[in-house]
Amino acid sequence: MTDLLTPVLTKNWGDEKSWTLRAYEKSGGYDALRKALTMTPDEVTGVVKDSGLRGRGGAGFPTGMKWSFVPKDNPNPKYLVVNGDESEPGTCKDIPLMLASPHTLVEGVIISSYAIGVHTAFIYIRGEVLHVVRRMQQAVAEAREAGYLGTNILDSGFDLEIVVHAGAGAYICGEETALLDSLEGLRGQPRLRPPFPAVAGLYASPTVINNVESIASVPSIIARGKDWFGSMGTEKSKGFTIYSLSGHVANPGQFEAPLGITLRELLELAGGVREGHELKFFTPGGSSTPILTAEHLDLPLDYEGMAGAGSMLGTKALQIFDETTSVVRTTLRWVEFYKHESCGKCTPCREGTWWLVQLLRDFEAGTAREGDIETMLDLCDNIGGRSFCALADGAVACVTSAVKYFRSEFEAGYRTPAWELLPYELSARFSVPATTGAHV
Ligand SMILES: Cc1cc2nc3c(=O)[nH]c(=O)nc-3n(C[C@H](O)[C@H](O)[C@H](O)COP(=O)(O)O)c2cc1C
Ligand code: SF4
Repeated sequence: MTDLLTPVLTKNWGDEKSWTLRAYEKSGGYDALRKALTMTPDEVTGVVKDSGLRGRGGAGFPTGMKWSFVPKDNPNPKYLVVNGDESEPGTCKDIPLMLASPHTLVEGVIISSYAIGVHTAFIYIRGEVLHVVRRMQQAVAEAREAGYLGTNILDSGFDLEIVVHAGAGAYICGEETALLDSLEGLRGQPRLRPPFPAVAGLYASPTVINNVESIASVPSIIARGKDWFGSMGTEKSKGFTIYSLSGHVANPGQFEAPLGITLRELLELAGGVREGHELKFFTPGGSSTPILTAEHLDLPLDYEGMAGAGSMLGTKALQIFDETTSVVRTTLRWVEFYKHESCGKCTPCREGTWWLVQLLRDFEAGTAREGDIETMLDLCDNIGGRSFCALADGAVACVTSAVKYFRSEFEAGYRTPAWELLPYELSARFSVPATTGAHV
């Protein structure tokens, strides 16, 4: 489309039957695996480490470093678990990736497993996306048939099986330790750390958990090298990544670009905010990341740029809201989600998200009382950082940032219903253009 886009993971999405082994091999698929198998496992880990690849699941932890935490002298089997739960509002990159090019992930799993010393890997996908589960299962079967999985892969002496697992559709099962409990057949609730999964994870064995996009980035890094990867992005946030634009944007979809691109540039690629309207606020990386406003349009969308603005890069899910949107209503919808998805293990999150919803409903109805903003912020203070896992931090991030930038809208909630202040039908009036989809 323009030089700003760097299609690597999305490069083949428009190919005829891009999800098949034949199409993937035609575009050079599995060549990186052949190359990796000529290297030692430590060399593969070294390349990933030196490339600067950081986890694309939200926290941005360096991937190669995570792999090197796995103790070599532990006699238990080692596991790789790919996190494809993708359930956060706004986040929409792993599911399209698995749907359009499942073999990119399969190849990444094989190379990563070889590097870590894994012989059984799991791909955990949220159960509601049955079509994606089926596509991954089909890709794994095709790869096995072709000798990329099973015993003695490509005569290398390396053995690997991949299990595709469908979750039952709970946001908390994306939290890595809850995911492990879920995989073991237990109710998905976060585990106490330490021990960390690298030491005692799945079945109490050393386990690496990585996001789909992180693992899918590995084949291209092995094929083209750390310097190529590092030539894109910024000093501390290297490489390319998939940004997802949704909401009040002319042309929503996935945009693969170097880390550090700005929202202004991405919006230009996406045809801008819907015609006749202007940006009011956005999430940089899904609903768990504090909202930002038009004043942040020119900040680099990388880990450092977003942290500097008091937010987070998260999953790079840019939800765009124009001036017709009620920030009170939007915040209420998000917090309703967190209340529903709270696993109930700890009191601040279980009870606090319920109370937040009650308060926000009052703000929405225009029946909040003077002082309720302070009560709500106090509640947030007693939930965030005081709960068992990061779901709770995400639940309050939208509230505190919404009050920070749009306090007067909450104050209006002492008198005026949000739907009178900003009639909802105006923000819902949105016609989807004919050219939605992947932009590669
Ligand atoms: C409530 C919650 C939900 C999460 N959901 C996901 C998810 O769907 N996919 C994902 O990769 N990471 C998710 N994470 C982050 C994971 O715990 C973990 O950090 C990530 O899978 C590590 O992969 P990475 O290092 O490749 O980024 C979630 C975290 C929390 C607290
Ligand atoms: S913070 Fe919420 S989701 Fe996390 S363990 Fe506590 S109750 Fe469960």
